Amino acid sequence: MGTRPLLNRRLAGMGSTIFAEMSALAAATGSINLGQGFPDRDGPREIAEAAAQAVLDGRGNQYPPGPGIPELRAAITEHQQRFYGLAYDPDTEVLVTAGATEAIAAALLALLEPGDEVIALEPFYDSYAACIAMAGATRVPLTLRAPAFRPDLDELRALITPRTRLLLINTPHNPTGTVLTPDELRTIAELACEHDLLVITDEVYEHLVFAGAHRPLAALPGMRERTVAISSAGKTFSFTGWKVGWVTGSPELVAAVRTAKQYLTFVSAGPFQYAVADALRLPDSYFDTLRADLLRKRDLLAAGLAAAGFEVFRPEGTYFITTDITPLGETDGLEFCRKLPERCGVVAIPNVVFYDNTEAGRSLVRWAFCKADSVLEEAVSRLRRL
Ligand SMILES: Cc1ncc(COP(=O)(O)O)c(C=O)c1O
Repeated sequence: MGTRPLLNRRLAGMGSTIFAEMSALAAATGSINLGQGFPDRDGPREIAEAAAQAVLDGRGNQYPPGPGIPELRAAITEHQQRFYGLAYDPDTEVLVTAGATEAIAAALLALLEPGDEVIALEPFYDSYAACIAMAGATRVPLTLRAPAFRPDLDELRALITPRTRLLLINTPHNPTGTVLTPDELRTIAELACEHDLLVITDEVYEHLVFAGAHRPLAALPGMRERTVAISSAGKTFSFTGWKVGWVTGSPELVAAVRTAKQYLTFVSAGPFQYAVADALRLPDSYFDTLRADLLRKRDLLAAGLAAAGFEVFRPEGTYFITTDITPLGETDGLEFCRKLPERCGVVAIPNVVFYDNTEAGRSLVRWAFCKADSVLEEAVSRLRRL
């Protein structure tokens, strides 16, 4: 095979994800895993039953239609109308994907040319860097800095060059918990229009906002025709293993993303699509209870982390808390997380892995609070040993 590296150079250095490393460490040490962002309780029983029933009834067991089953596409458009007043045509403006992850990959592969620049909020969700690289494009970070983690919009303006093709915006933002304000969204939209940029919005935490409400960028003037909005069922309905996601946007944008998507997975998870259609139509009380439960868990874990000596940045959305380990006399989050299971039987994620500007993330550590109260209480009690 000669001396040429096996792995394509665009993926060089992107070995296994930090989640694999930390989840393996959790299993090996019997630690409480507050690393990876998955709930320890499944979503609503009736939605699980709907999936099981679809399998038994033979709905979706064979290749579903490429854009997604019509029932789910209709439910997605109803959801966008119900929560945001956004109208989409289920036939031409909606695409069902294998989770938000595939939607992100297909959108970036479809819309980018080698040499294009993508400005993304840093810290980045880890698949962004890999997919931008696979598209042959270059990522340009707009760094969210502690303690406020707000985007510096003058810096954003300065980062835009003639090569900038796309803004990749994640709100509510993982891992900082930042929810962009109406003013921030307005400025981002104005810059996108002024420089004729495409925008991808990753809104997978849209229903996990604790103060105010989630506002889709696509709702702002001039944005509908340039925005690929992405979400998924994983976080909202606590079925992260089902991998049902979706894209909404103009017919032209959706057609482009569909072109890439059809050669990635072609289609996905037929029976789950029926169940997610039901889930999207759950009453408001479902969404309110989800949020209230997670708010209580956020406050429980935030208080425990503060009592253990961390500087806690209380998130406005998502189910993650970012902390700074400096008050504990620590400086290196990666080293801290690698030793934490042995020291006190808890696993967390070092934020530094989500940064290009590693200095901005070196002492930050992320904790997931989508876990049973008893698990969070036990984690907090173990962390007191620090
Ligand atoms: C910001 C963000 N985008 C996308 C995803 C992936 O979503 P899915 O599981 O639907 O592929 C995640 C999952 O953690 C995420 O945090």
